[in-house]
Amino acid sequence: MTILETDRLILRPWQERDRDLFFEINSDPQVMEFFPFRRDREQSDAFFDTLLERQAKKITYPAAELRSTGECVGFCGLHESDAEPPHIPAGTIEIGWRLATRYWGKGYATEGALAALDYGFTELGLPEIVSFAVHDNRRSTAVMERIGMRRDTAGDFDHSNIPDTHPHLRRHVFYRLTAADWRNKKGGL
Ligand SMILES: CC(C)(COP(=O)(O)OP(=O)(O)OC[C@H]1O[C@@H](n2cnc3c(N)ncnc32)[C@H](O)[C@@H]1OP(=O)(O)O)[C@@H](O)C(=O)NCCC(=O)NCCS
Repeated sequence: MTILETDRLILRPWQERDRDLFFEINSDPQVMEFFPFRRDREQSDAFFDTLLERQAKKITYPAAELRSTGECVGFCGLHESDAEPPHIPAGTIEIGWRLATRYWGKGYATEGALAALDYGFTELGLPEIVSFAVHDNRRSTAVMERIGMRRDTAGDFDHSNIPDTHPHLRRHVFYRLTAADWRNKKGGL
């Protein structure tokens, strides 16, 4: 995984010392408001192990660390999609974020995401990066809009992994950003 640095953040591979923060963001009801589950410690650790293996092989969400203190604040960055959304090919690169609540409202997700987009388009040469969220997850769609992504209503979809107990979490909105639009936004190559 390539390490990216911004003014305030380091986007880097996950390390053993991040386990507690990872559990925090996977178990906090406020952070997980738009997910149909919370992870207990055992589930979080098992998922963390998967992430450690995955990051050695594939593009996956990097840990976001504060440069000033070395604290891990959550994750932010690119991820190789698996099965969702159904209308994009597996392997499409998406962008996403999840921060512990005490780090909300400081611009960290936007700052990290802009660096990840820059890396995706300039270093990886990606033609497009996508993102999606539960339709009323406004904090997340606000990040998408701040970094210049465009809503594609034709791409909205019902997530297949949402159980019948949580029908309000099923509908997802879809955002895209092409390399061409990214370059135009940055003032051209
Ligand atoms: C989605 C999520 C990462 C967004 O966090 P966020 O703090 O709202 O977004 P940012 O880090 O970009 O911060 C932007 C806010 O910081 C403010 N801010 C403060 N200092 C700032 C700075 N130096 N630079 C930029 N913005 C700053 C902005 O004004 C904005 O505030 P506002 O929401 O009141 O308009 C966070 O809510 C989260 O982790 N949610 C739970 C997980 C989740 O749902 N993930 C997405 C699944 S699709």
